[in-house]
Order: sequence, then C-alpha cells, then structure tokens
Amino acid sequence: MQRTLSIIKPDAVARNLLGAICVRFEQAGLAIVAARMMHLTREQAEGFYAIHRERPFFKDLVEFMRSGPILVLILEGDEAVRKNREIMGATNPAEALAGTIRHDYAETIDANAVHGSDAPETAQQEIEFFFEQDEIFSRN
Ligand code: CMP
Repeated sequence: MQRTLSIIKPDAVARNLLGAICVRFEQAGLAIVAARMMHLTREQAEGFYAIHRERPFFKDLVEFMRSGPILVLILEGDEAVRKNREIMGATNPAEALAGTIRHDYAETIDANAVHGSDAPETAQQEIEFFFEQDEIFSRN
C-alpha cells in the first residue's frame, strides 16, 4: 500500500469537475483517505511549490493556485504514486493521452486540473505539508 497527494486545482473546482475527477481515482482502485477543501494563501502556495522557486513559471503558478478553492486529497492503494500519475496524464494537456484527466478536462499547462506527487518521497513530504496523522483515514 502506498499513499500519494492529489490536488484538484482551481480551474477544475470552478468547472464543477470534482465528482468527475474523484470517480476516476476510485475506479482505478485508489481510495480517498483524506480530503480538505481550502483556498491557499500566497505563503502556502509558495511553500508547497518551493521546489519550483527558480523556474520561470513560478510566479504564475503561485498566482493560479491561489486564484480559487482547491481540493487536497490523499489517495491510497497499490502503487498509488505511479497509478495517479498515469490517470492524470502529462503535465501539458496538449501532450496527455486520451482518457487521462488532463487530456479530458485541462485547458493549459497552468490550468491543468490536477497535481500529483511525482515520487514516494515527495508524496510523504506533500502529505505532511497538508495533513496531520489524525486526519488520515486509512482503509488498511
Ligand atoms: P504540477 O504537477 O502542479 O507541478 C508544477 C506545475 O507548474 C505544473 O503542474 C504545471 O501546472 C505548472 N507549469 C507551468 N509551466 C510549466 C512547465 N514549463 N513545466 C512544468 N510545469 C509547469
């Protein structure tokens, strides 16, 4: 069993896609074991994406992520990190395979509907960024 962090981003929340996206996680065998809807502060958005601080898109990324509410989830299941990345599709929706969340629902590389941890180590850090242990309801 593995856990990964997922964020349903402001574009997808604004377009009423929460249910459509969550059903894809569950159909892939991933359980939602923690969830919080929130509107990030600038400090939270900068802190979460600190690894991208030097990238040219950092400022736009932070502004976008605080442009509206998001849904932060922990997904649990076999190979949760890899499975979630497969379901999401490529970062740039123009390159995402048909049937993936980003292909079907995302508009641009910034407004790309979802975020997912890229490795088990980052998943652990990202989970700890948002959740306390007693907010996680494991199915195991
Ligand atoms: P996400 O998985 O949330 O991680 C960082 C985000 O930066 C990424 O999704 C994209 O939405 C955004 N981004 C914007 N431009 C780029 C880029 N050139 N490469 C990677 N990510 C980008």
